[in-house]
Amino acid sequence: MPINEFSPQIGKSEIVKILQTLQDNWITEGKKTQQLEAMLAEYFGCRRVVMVPNGTLALFAALKVLGIGPGDEVIVPDFTFFGSVSAVVLTGATPVLVDVDELDGNVSVDAAKASLSERTRAIMPVHIYGQSCDMRAVMELAREHDLYVVEDAAQGMGVTFGDKHVGTFGDIGCMSFFADKTMTTGEGGALLLNDEQLAQKCVYFKNQGRLRRGSFVHTHMGYNFRITDLQAAIGVAQFERVERTIQRKRVLRDAYYRRLDGCPRVRLPADNGFGEVVPFRVNILVDDPEGLAEFLAKREIAVRRYFYPLHRQPSLTAENSIVRQTPVNSVRLFDTGLMLPSGLDLTESQVNHVCACVEEYQYMHHTERTSGANGGSPTNASPSTLRA
Ligand SMILES: Cc1ncc(COP(=O)(O)O)c(C=O)c1O
Repeated sequence: MPINEFSPQIGKSEIVKILQTLQDNWITEGKKTQQLEAMLAEYFGCRRVVMVPNGTLALFAALKVLGIGPGDEVIVPDFTFFGSVSAVVLTGATPVLVDVDELDGNVSVDAAKASLSERTRAIMPVHIYGQSCDMRAVMELAREHDLYVVEDAAQGMGVTFGDKHVGTFGDIGCMSFFADKTMTTGEGGALLLNDEQLAQKCVYFKNQGRLRRGSFVHTHMGYNFRITDLQAAIGVAQFERVERTIQRKRVLRDAYYRRLDGCPRVRLPADNGFGEVVPFRVNILVDDPEGLAEFLAKREIAVRRYFYPLHRQPSLTAENSIVRQTPVNSVRLFDTGLMLPSGLDLTESQVNHVCACVEEYQYMHHTERTSGANGGSPTNASPSTLRA
């Protein structure tokens, strides 16, 4: 049976709550969305949560309400999902791509410091793969240089720096509830705020320049960035079991790590120690992630490479982005990282099977490298004998 890279967990509760919403005959944004926003604000420990259609639009809205646009520079780590940077480019501002820490893939504050200019208005720390950035250092840099902080916490549900949830340190935090996130609404996103005035600006922005619907008087300029109560219904159901989901993610990673410990040339990324970690996927570092991915694909095991460095993206050019120092760690992470199947319904025997295949490839690869072109007899290798 094929093994997926990831699949969302949709249960009875989601179906019941969607049915209730349909029966209530209120399918646009309404009471269910308000309920979800209140639940999330309490969970994150911030004053306000404002739901928006997805994480990319959350970042875009955050930058817009902070007044960031043409002529401004925003520091963005080179190793992140494309949505982090497209949100900046589409405001008319210029992203400045900086390197990341080799250990956790999070923004290097030293690299950020070295890339500041007179035009730098904001920094976007991205909490990558379920671990917090060094928010103490980020906030210090922002204070010293009078920068806005827009946290990309798209992958950060349940992740903390110390005892505070990511997304609540900066001016605005942004979450994604896309289908592969720890909690999903199908597509979805949220703005996390502690400043009531800024929160109100976000509401104007997402609701055609009004605080409430039903009026045709628009005092501000705004888009329609509302969601539907059908999405919120899924979100409430997902939120009610988020702690279980988080625990399951940790158990899964532990199982993989135990099984892969000692596997030839497989490095298991360590936690950075800043706070609670919620593994986004189970990640490994190997010499040849592409070869391993192809090998696993032939066995119907779906995996994903790490993010492609932003400074190499064909759509990011000298016209719309800046690179002041080559982001070498970002390239190194891309060159070595692989995400193993991390679906929460994976069985122990499926995990063992994936690990046995990884081991088989790594053993073959290792033998080829150490014994020259004709050496080794990898095809006869039985994974169960490899650990001895
Ligand atoms: C780090 C990061 N930033 C931003 C986004 C964008 O979120 P969305 O897909 O909801 O637009 C994602 C989504 O995967 C992400 O992983």
